Amino acid sequence: MPTNKTFTMIKPDAVQGGNSGAIIKMIEEAGFRIVAAKKTKLSAERAGEFYAVHSERPFYTDLCAYMSSGPIIPMILEKENAVADFRKLIGATNPANAEEGTIRKLYAQSVEANAIHGSDSDENAAIEGSFFFAHTEQF
Ligand code: CMP
Repeated sequence: MPTNKTFTMIKPDAVQGGNSGAIIKMIEEAGFRIVAAKKTKLSAERAGEFYAVHSERPFYTDLCAYMSSGPIIPMILEKENAVADFRKLIGATNPANAEEGTIRKLYAQSVEANAIHGSDSDENAAIEGSFFFAHTEQF
C-alpha cells in the first residue's frame, strides 16, 4: 500500500544555478507538502553510499564526483500517490526526453546534472529519506 511519501534532492547544478526556489515553488504548487528539508553537502564517500545501487554502472564514479561537487537540498514530501506523481512532475532522467513543463525539462542540464532526484518506489523513498533525516526532523 502506498505510504504517500517520497524523497527528493535538488542536485548541485540546480542549487548552484539559483533554481532551488523556483523548483520548490513547483513542488508545492503541485500539491506536495514538505515534511523535512535542509541544505547540505555530500562527501564523495557518502554520495557513493547513496548511489550504491548504481556502483556497477559506467557513470557511477562521475555521478559520485558530481553529487559531491556542491550543496544539495534533500527533502521528504507528502501527497497522495507521492512516488508516481512526483516522478511525473520531474520528468525523464534525460532532460532531452523530459516532457514540456516538467522540472527537468525546465532546469536540468544533462542526464547527469539533471536538477533533481525522485525516489522510484515507496521502499526506496523510505530508505533514501532516512539516509538524510532522523524521524525527529520530520514534520
Ligand atoms: P537519478 O535518477 O536521480 O539517480 C541516478 C542518477 O544517475 C540519475 O539521476 C542521473 O543523475 C545519473 N545518471 C543516470 N543515467 C546516467 C547516464 N547514462 N549517464 C550519466 N549519469 C546518469
